[in-house]
Amino acid sequence: MDKIVIHGGKALVGSVRIGGAKNAALPILVSSLLTDGWCTYENVPHLRDIESIKQLLTHLGAEVETDGHTVRINAAGLSNHEAPYDLVRKMRASILVLCPLVARLKKARVSLPGGCAIGARPINFHLKGLTLLGADIDLDHGYVDASAKTLVGNEIFFDIPSVTGTENLLMAAVLAEGTTILRNAAREPEVVALIDVLNLMGSKIKGAGTSILTIQGVKKLRPVHVSIIPDRIETGTFMVAAALTKGSIEIKDCEPDHVTGIIHKLRQTGTEVSIKGKKIYVKGSKTIQSIDIKTLPYPGFPTDMQAQFMVLMAIAGGLSIISETIFENRFIHVSELRRLGADITVSGNAAMIKGVPSLSGAPVMATDLRASASLILAGLVAKGTTEVNRIYHLDRGYEAIEKKFQKLGADIERIQ
Ligand code: EPZ
Repeated sequence: MDKIVIHGGKALVGSVRIGGAKNAALPILVSSLLTDGWCTYENVPHLRDIESIKQLLTHLGAEVETDGHTVRINAAGLSNHEAPYDLVRKMRASILVLCPLVARLKKARVSLPGGCAIGARPINFHLKGLTLLGADIDLDHGYVDASAKTLVGNEIFFDIPSVTGTENLLMAAVLAEGTTILRNAAREPEVVALIDVLNLMGSKIKGAGTSILTIQGVKKLRPVHVSIIPDRIETGTFMVAAALTKGSIEIKDCEPDHVTGIIHKLRQTGTEVSIKGKKIYVKGSKTIQSIDIKTLPYPGFPTDMQAQFMVLMAIAGGLSIISETIFENRFIHVSELRRLGADITVSGNAAMIKGVPSLSGAPVMATDLRASASLILAGLVAKGTTEVNRIYHLDRGYEAIEKKFQKLGADIERIQ
């Protein structure tokens, strides 16, 4: 089992390039199932989750070729409608193949993703929406069995603006007969990126970036050649790293428009943030102000940045309240941060963080993707040595993160 060992206390200085967004690449790679030609995707990050989705698409009968950060997929040979448990359990976003399979093959048998560390994460909105589009759905032995001779447009309301729920149903509606309206749909940049790709393929989707999406079904979609948008959570993670270590970094190839909430909150802590085109400059300040954070659907503060921000508040000058409104169990990193000397109390969906002068290094355990990022950040600023174990969680969502931190001057290495 790999681990990452960090000797904390170095200020990060220099320039870092942001990779393609995991949560845009996943639905966009899956959208290749909707057509029968070669689709080319550039700027696809090297991540475990991307490997998992490529494995699943191959299992379904698509041809998948990878050359560096470019992935080519041809689903002309799509033949298998079953996504088995051993593939889906590795990555819950595999549920995104459900609707494209029904749209293309008229049926799908997809393992229920099951819960995960941060919450139950049900898929009832995905299933209710697909039913409203005319599919018959059975749950049987841990699998979703869905079938539909034809999908017919309908109005669907999301109780909560689900990101993959919106993405899944978009990929059914684009090939349905007639018009579909998704209300209270997710507005994340990754959803907008998928809509842009689907429209390039010949779909007729209006309202991208708003909570009401109107989809005019079409008969056929054509292959595309696109590039994946930058990862806003990787961007935010490096911004926090600069603030934490009182460093000064340039973040390249990012999309500043996608991180306005993070920039706004970072500036409130006293961190200097400036934007020049597609570059963001972050300069840490001597004292870090404690502020309150509430995670919300985009364009609110992203839940995927909650753990990272908690580390910054752990060494800020006062008292901070972080409310997690998206997932019911996304404070698992708190007990690990306490081991590093953080003073954090959790009650319900709120964590109260009392800033301490410094953290002290210790062995800690990663439990989920963003929690593992927060432990790396804590190690960068903790006095002494921090050892982060079970970093396969980290490799699901960050490409060679220790190499990027090394280039910025951190004393960090991966031990096989
Ligand atoms: C996406 O997950 C992201 N994953 C998550 O990123 C991210 O944290 C999350 O959106 C919120 O922004 C991908 O895009 C692959 P949701 P998703 O459906 O789509 C409830 C990471 O670190 N809900 O928007 O699964 C759900 O329980 C990952 O990269 C239902 O109740 O999240 C949650 O409380 C972690 N029923 C809320 O909605 C449903 O059918 C939002 O979930 C669907 C969701």
